[in-house]
Amino acid sequence: MRRLLLFTFITLISINVFAQTDSNMGIIPVPVSVVKKQGSFSLDKTVVLVSADAANSQVADLLNAYIVSKAGFALRAEKTIMPGSKAILLTSIGADKLPAEGYKIIITNKQFTIVGKGAGLFYGLQSAMQMMPDPVKKGSSVVINAVEINDYPRFKYRGLHLDVGRHMFPVAFVKKYIDLMSQYKLNNFHWHLTEDQGWRIEIKKYPKLTSVGSIRKGTIIGNYPGTGNDNIVYKGFYTQDEVKDIVAYASQRFVNVIPEIELPGHSSAAIAAYPELSCFPERDTFIGDRTTWAGSRMGKQVQQTWGIYQDVFVPSENTFNFLEGVLDEVLALFPSKYIHIGGDESPKEFWKESKFCQDLIKTLGLKDEHELQSYFIQRIEKYINSKGRSIIGWDEILEGGLAPNATVMSWRGIDGGIAAAKQNHDVIMSPSGPIGLYLDSKQSNSKDEPTNIGGFSTYSIIYGYDPIPKELTPEQQSHIIGVQGNVWTEYIRTPEKIEYMLLPRMFALSEIAWSPVARKDLKNFAEERLPLHLLKLDRTTTNYWIPTPIGQSEKVMTGENFSIALKEPIPGSRIYYTLDLSRPSINATFYTTPLKITIPTGQKRVLKTIVVTPGNRTSVVTETILNNGAPDEKTK
Ligand code: ACM
Repeated sequence: MRRLLLFTFITLISINVFAQTDSNMGIIPVPVSVVKKQGSFSLDKTVVLVSADAANSQVADLLNAYIVSKAGFALRAEKTIMPGSKAILLTSIGADKLPAEGYKIIITNKQFTIVGKGAGLFYGLQSAMQMMPDPVKKGSSVVINAVEINDYPRFKYRGLHLDVGRHMFPVAFVKKYIDLMSQYKLNNFHWHLTEDQGWRIEIKKYPKLTSVGSIRKGTIIGNYPGTGNDNIVYKGFYTQDEVKDIVAYASQRFVNVIPEIELPGHSSAAIAAYPELSCFPERDTFIGDRTTWAGSRMGKQVQQTWGIYQDVFVPSENTFNFLEGVLDEVLALFPSKYIHIGGDESPKEFWKESKFCQDLIKTLGLKDEHELQSYFIQRIEKYINSKGRSIIGWDEILEGGLAPNATVMSWRGIDGGIAAAKQNHDVIMSPSGPIGLYLDSKQSNSKDEPTNIGGFSTYSIIYGYDPIPKELTPEQQSHIIGVQGNVWTEYIRTPEKIEYMLLPRMFALSEIAWSPVARKDLKNFAEERLPLHLLKLDRTTTNYWIPTPIGQSEKVMTGENFSIALKEPIPGSRIYYTLDLSRPSINATFYTTPLKITIPTGQKRVLKTIVVTPGNRTSVVTETILNNGAPDEKTK
């Protein structure tokens, strides 16, 4: 019993988060420079919060609210510093000399100063909050190591995407998503609003987009083609008031919201609402025989399964009028310079079959359907440019010729991005596949991972990616304006699952988007800073993926004698393991010291571990095969 008490006591002590013991003060994304100094600033009730500039009052309020939530007291707000008083000073004086979105933090025994303007000051606040110890005993002072931090972003575009077409999420969750982004200095929220499986934004001129297009009569169960159809009506859309609310909320957090209106493909929901947008309005929606279907198969339907569909917008004047009507309302709702027009995965079969399209190709003197798509995108670009905005399109917009001012979002690997930069077009890198920026892929090979789209991406894979391709000249490299992670939601129905897929991968994304390459340090990230951030999450209701024990690999290890040293990925968490093929639980062996394992010749063992966090969350089971010359099939 005494041992248990002692153990509990040590655990409680050791799970205090001391960001300041880390050389980077625990900050994610790592700042450009962090120079720790002698001394410390003690934040107690006598400290005044000085902010002379009314423009900075929001940041001052956020800081005070944070201090109240952590320490239980608020700071007295003042406009000027009284000589001799201990103060936190928020100031924009000198910020004009900082790089865009940059900030400085200077902490001495007497003063905690954040210098920055607009987004810069806000990011300084985020770093300041991350540095504070957590938890703080209510009412006691918060001690922060003296330090000088200089910081600014590597890329001006730091994006995160969310698909609300396949599944949609409450306004409150979209705001939480934006909060998470802004806390990690991501500044562009790419909101994928229209899909084959649902149109999710109210357009007053075209009410059927939501009264018809936002409703599907069922959804396949499990991975495509599914084990059946749930036969449950799935519907929803964001009203224009909700959109305005989200855009304003994001803007206060220096997050720009980029709407995506997909064209000409991924448009089944719009076509279900207005069949004349199709090449063949009379034709039933193609459903195929691989999936089960809820309700009528007649006429144009909102899709109930995932994939790419041939029924795309017909490039008629009626369609362009319709799209301009939609865009007029979209442009009024979103002040964003960029409007994403999709452009991906638009099959050409219907255009090949359609007499109208073939005649149009001839009339316009085009070579083929790819050039017809380019014509389509260029018409839309011209309209958007005429309103003072710019388009972003997925990398298929390269096919048939790029629209003159388009920014390309490279998703099928990096080749599209390279090709676009070589044509002097701006590029956002968002590669799927092994580079790993598709956050709907699985995070480990454990059988416990939830249903997902396939593919594999971990925070360390993302961390290892440099968005600037080496094969570009410096001039071409300057066209890589940023990087983005994508969260597609075919297999994500709930906010909790989004959080699971997002965290901690978003932390790695934020570091490759913000921090200089020279400051990259996976060991410091994974073993010093990430654990602190995960422990903070563990104390909230936010879900996250619990990393495998540090030191354990999912790869097969070969040999006779193994010494395996593991470290918990989150302070205060516990590792339990088995070597007898049984599934580990809290009744399995508790890991305390490195495992010494000898495997007889011709045999294998499987090390299975789980991590149990201080908040009593349990990780997936991680398996490592230890093989001393046994044939593969005897593994498990
Ligand atoms: C995409 O993932 N189809 C852009």
